Amino acid sequence: MVTVGDKYILPGRGDHDRLRVISEIHDGETRKLLRQAGFIAGCRLVEFGCGLGYVTRWAAAEGATATGLDINEEQIRASQRLAERAGLTTVDFRTANIYEPGLDAESLDIAYCRWLMVHLNRPVEAMRAIYRALKPGGVMVCEEADISAVYAEPHSAAYEEMLDIGLRAGRARGVEYDGGRRIHIWAKRAGFEVVHVAAYHPHYLNGPYKGFWNWTLRTAARRLVEEGAITQDRWNELVAGMTAADESADTVVAHCRMHQLIARKGANQ
Ligand SMILES: C[S@@+](CC[C@H](N)C(=O)[O-])C[C@H]1O[C@@H](n2cnc3c(N)ncnc32)[C@H](O)[C@@H]1O
Repeated sequence: MVTVGDKYILPGRGDHDRLRVISEIHDGETRKLLRQAGFIAGCRLVEFGCGLGYVTRWAAAEGATATGLDINEEQIRASQRLAERAGLTTVDFRTANIYEPGLDAESLDIAYCRWLMVHLNRPVEAMRAIYRALKPGGVMVCEEADISAVYAEPHSAAYEEMLDIGLRAGRARGVEYDGGRRIHIWAKRAGFEVVHVAAYHPHYLNGPYKGFWNWTLRTAARRLVEEGAITQDRWNELVAGMTAADESADTVVAHCRMHQLIARKGANQ
């Protein structure tokens, strides 16, 4: 059986800057959510799809025994280097596929993932793997995007079309980039009790994060140009349209809406 369901289309060294920006935008909310879920010094936490391991390192610095898992070996090596440089001793990073994480059953207090399930073909199966690794009473904390909430106001036809292209490309690959809104459903199907849901939605009039989706969508759509799904000319027009919206001091660009979930494995499982 093929177990790698990953459809992550922005891998590689060039993605480090994007992961750093994701950390800058989201880590504040992530830390609050983890504390709300019961994160305390001494807990055993694993971050799935950890990318460059920002959250894993924070958890270790706060006293957790923390492991970051990711399918991308290069990112895992970079995460290890960053942890060594920070002098962290209760952290490790391992290359692993979420479907077969290689963790002992019932060994975790907290499982965390961000922006991972929307890249997977089988998010419910991935959550079942997390479920197995959690201790009875342990929690899964999950933050996932709904990118259909990205928009510009005044309206930008370029943003709208590029977003639509991105969502359709995801569906063609069997992944749901608007899946953040469904994480509570996926968690229930995986056997969890859903204990908390919330969402937040940053908006930018200016500043370094306003162009995040222009950057992300145009990078993802490069592959569609290579595949012949859109022409180079159309790509150029859409990028110019999004850039005009970003550069207008009167235009607000909305980031994706981030959905948050705390779900518990029953104590008597
Ligand atoms: C958008 S990045 C998010 C990284 C990190 N969670 C963050 O918020 O900064 C998605 C990550 O999921 C990882 N990933 C994708 N498919 C995976 C799989 N099947 N198993 C483990 N990691 C996976 C990718 O390599 C990538 O690092």
